[in-house]
Amino acid sequence: MGPVIPRILSSELHTHPFPYFASDNVVSSAYLDEIKSNWPALEKFTKTDGYGYYVLPIDAPHLLQNLQPAQSVFWEEFSNNAMLQIVYGSLAKYAEFIFDRYGPELDRVEIVNLFLCESDDEFYAAGAHNHSHDPTWLFTNLVYINDGGSSIRGSQLYDFDGDIPNTESPLLDVLAGTPCGNRPDGLSPARYIDFVPGRMISFFETPFSYHGSEPVTKEDLVKQGPARKPRRMIRMHVRAPLEFCEKFYNIGIDEYRPKKLSGEANATTIGWLRDDLSCYQRSLEKSSSDLSPGMLDYISSLDIKWVTGRERDISRYRDL
Ligand SMILES: [Fe+2]
Repeated sequence: MGPVIPRILSSELHTHPFPYFASDNVVSSAYLDEIKSNWPALEKFTKTDGYGYYVLPIDAPHLLQNLQPAQSVFWEEFSNNAMLQIVYGSLAKYAEFIFDRYGPELDRVEIVNLFLCESDDEFYAAGAHNHSHDPTWLFTNLVYINDGGSSIRGSQLYDFDGDIPNTESPLLDVLAGTPCGNRPDGLSPARYIDFVPGRMISFFETPFSYHGSEPVTKEDLVKQGPARKPRRMIRMHVRAPLEFCEKFYNIGIDEYRPKKLSGEANATTIGWLRDDLSCYQRSLEKSSSDLSPGMLDYISSLDIKWVTGRERDISRYRDL
């Protein structure tokens, strides 16, 4: 499979429009071929509403039971090996940002979702959105598997016409008042990451980590070449424990989430954003690309849990 963590650590961490990195050949080409050959048939997937693709969650053993036995074994091993290396490598990339927000109290992180995703020419459109409905999500990773030779169905990252919100910005009202699944006024494309097989795009979750994909027409795809195959990727989200929602906002996740999903703007929700951004701005000011020994220890000490209850021996992946 190759050295996943060093590959991630050597990729460049960008901070505009929000922290993100793209890591090419995150797994070896031989392992990528194995992923492709063990990819389940589309009939095993479930069509999602509003997100433009079909998904197959694989983050619990019972979800693998309907697959062919060899596929089941492969994805179990993926979850227990490549996946955990990807998570530790990503945690290390965002170490300073994570420490500034969660501090030494953080002793574990949780894998919320691990999905295989597939879409076809007819069914693909993920508009601009962010994930602030879950304020303890740390990062999202997308591992690109294949797209029939096309590269134009990658990921779009957005800012506000070159700007990003800060604690004094009038954009706070806009952010608070926009449901986090919707595109707010003033949002514009900032960075585009091509779809390249074996590339992983990872972004750190902030209240303005707007991402998605601009519509692509069949004609656009045809221009790139005649071969059209399903677009496939692996998606994962990793979060800090939900207790931190209570700690940051004095409110449980079940009360917090609806306010973000509906875009409730008031003094309280705007105050939350201001606090979040204040912490984030402090991180940005001191952020350096070098991982200090202290941060390395911090990340290595974190336990990884699955919200599905899946148990894993993670000890062998902590050697950063
Ligand atoms: Fe998303």
